[in-house]
This record gives sequence, structure tokens and C-alpha cells, in this order.
Amino acid sequence: MVSGGELERVLRADRRAAKKVVFSGVGKTAEEIESALKAGILLFNLESASEMEVVAACAAKLKRKAWVAWRVNPDVPADTHPYISTGLQKHKFGVPIAEARELYARAAQSKYLQVAGVSVHIGSQITQMAPFEAAMERVADLVRQLLNDGHKMQYVDAGGGLGINYSGSGDFGNTITDYAGAITRPLNELRVKVLLEPGRSIVGPAGVLVTRVLYRKKNGEKKFLVVDAAMNDLIRPSLYQAEHQILPVEDRKAQPEITDVVGPICESGDFFARERTLPTVNEGELLAILDAGAYGMALASNYNTRARAAEVLVDGKSVKLIRRRETIADQLRSELLTRR
Ligand SMILES: Cc1ncc(COP(=O)(O)O)c(C=O)c1O
Repeated sequence: MVSGGELERVLRADRRAAKKVVFSGVGKTAEEIESALKAGILLFNLESASEMEVVAACAAKLKRKAWVAWRVNPDVPADTHPYISTGLQKHKFGVPIAEARELYARAAQSKYLQVAGVSVHIGSQITQMAPFEAAMERVADLVRQLLNDGHKMQYVDAGGGLGINYSGSGDFGNTITDYAGAITRPLNELRVKVLLEPGRSIVGPAGVLVTRVLYRKKNGEKKFLVVDAAMNDLIRPSLYQAEHQILPVEDRKAQPEITDVVGPICESGDFFARERTLPTVNEGELLAILDAGAYGMALASNYNTRARAAEVLVDGKSVKLIRRRETIADQLRSELLTRR
């Protein structure tokens, strides 16, 4: 997890799950650190020397010992969108792997910190396995040095990052096998527990954004389907140039056409697809935007004072509303200058 809010979600789901939580992020506040200590999380992934001091001070205040790993930056490029690549020296994450031994020595001097492992997370939506293996080789070298230095290294946290295939092709079972090999091969003879922080690969394919076609529109030869969802509901196409598959909800024979699928927001960046070949659909019909389960609702906003969507859980034949559609009143409730 990467925030106090995410910890609260874990605790509400199951308090006992706190002992599986690792806390990453470059800007943990003292308040968040204290909540995590009280909850009894497994590991703090430290991302700077200043943060280490704060974790130690919070642990001292609560008279607890914080279990820590340094999140190291292996300086390995990941072939993904630059905004979600995190393992290069120029990125804000982790500490340079070359400086890690000294930082471990400093952490070991505190009686409120227990050195317990190493952590790495080189980015998200990574579909090639070589960067994972390269990062793990560097981590394995570091673990060997740290063991020699006398530290007890119980955990290697390999982070998240495993990408999904947004085009819908390929066998995910084979991808998982290759991923497991890439992570574990370099660690083979080290007696460490491997921690994983998968996000997208679990929940991405589980989510579909359903949207209604409001208008068909033509500007000269250019065709648009204007739908009632927008970049505030799913920002991945606008932010990361992501290409999600889009299907008509009603599967029927129709002539293909080349069209953009756009939302109502006042920005040309508000699109779900550009120059996409889709079966011709009519105004009023529903479209399904696939693989919206990861970084869809979590990145949704109220831009243009648009209410966030409802969420419906489909489990076999059972259908359950698990988050009601947000109202304008919900949005205005916390605004103190709005006339009641
Ligand atoms: C530290 C950390 N771990 C895990 C994840 C989850 O990554 P993914 O969704 O690629 O599996 C993220 C996502 O940003 C992260 O920052």
C-alpha cells in the first residue's frame, strides 16, 4: 500500500491482513507511519534517509519496533509509459542501490528499527520479463553483500509491475510462469521470502466501464461517437495513451466503421479511442470499455463537476451494487462557500 487511506481500506476488509502489508511511497507522513505501526504492518519500505529518521522517531514514540526494508533503485529501464516507470536513477523512488549498504548500516544502529529485507518496484504495466530479472539480479547481489555485512535478510519485495495485455491476445498463464521465473531465478540460492505487490494484473481484467452512446457526430469525414463516460471516469487513454478494447454490449452483426470514441469533457484529450474500427452502433446503445478494473475508478475524479460512476459486482449470475452512483450533492457537501 502507498497511503494511510489504503491502510484504512485493508483494516476495514480484515484487520488481521495488516500483518501482510508493506508500506511504500516517497512521502509517508508521521501520521500515516504511526497508524501503520499501530496496525502492526509487516514492513516499511524506506525511500530516504530523512524518512528513516521519522519512522524511527514514530516507533520510539509508540515504543514499538518498525520492520524495515530499503526500497532500492536498481537503475533498470522498464519498457513502459514514462509516467509509470519508476526504477531509474532520475526517478523520485527508492535510494540508489550503490548507497544501500551504508543506509542499512545506519538503520541497524537504531534500536527502533529492525532491518528485514530489500524492496524494489521498477514500474507498472511491464510486459517484458528481462527488466524484472535484471532488477532481481542487482537485488540478489545486494542481499549477498548485506548478509556478509551481518544483516538478517528475510524478505525480498519484488513490488508490482506485471502488465496485462490490453489487446486481449496471449496466454496469461504463460506470462505468469515467465514472470515467476524472472523473479525467482536470481534469488535461487538465497533463503529469502519473496513478497509481491501485484495490482493491475489481478484487478485490471476484472473491470469493464459501461457507457452509453449519446450522439453520433461527423466533422467533415471524421466520425465521433460521443459517449456519457469521460476521462474523469477512466483517464488511462488520456494520461498514458492506453488503448483499451471497446465492444458493443449487444453483440450483433453490423458494418465496421472507423471512429473516435470521445467523452463530453471540454478537452480534446478526453477520448477513449482514436481512429478505431468498431461495429456501427446507434445512439442510445451501450459500449463496454474492457480492462478498466485497474487505475480506472482509483484515478476517477470530479472534473467538470461530474459525479463518479456506480460500481456493480458481477459474480456468476449474481449482480450487486457495491458503490452507488455519486450525486452532485455528494460533491458539494464538503464545499464551504457553496450556497445551500
Ligand atoms: C510500490 C508499488 N507497489 C505495487 C504497485 C502495483 O503495481 P501494478 O498495478 O503494476 O501491479 C504500485 C503501483 O504504482 C506501486 O507503486
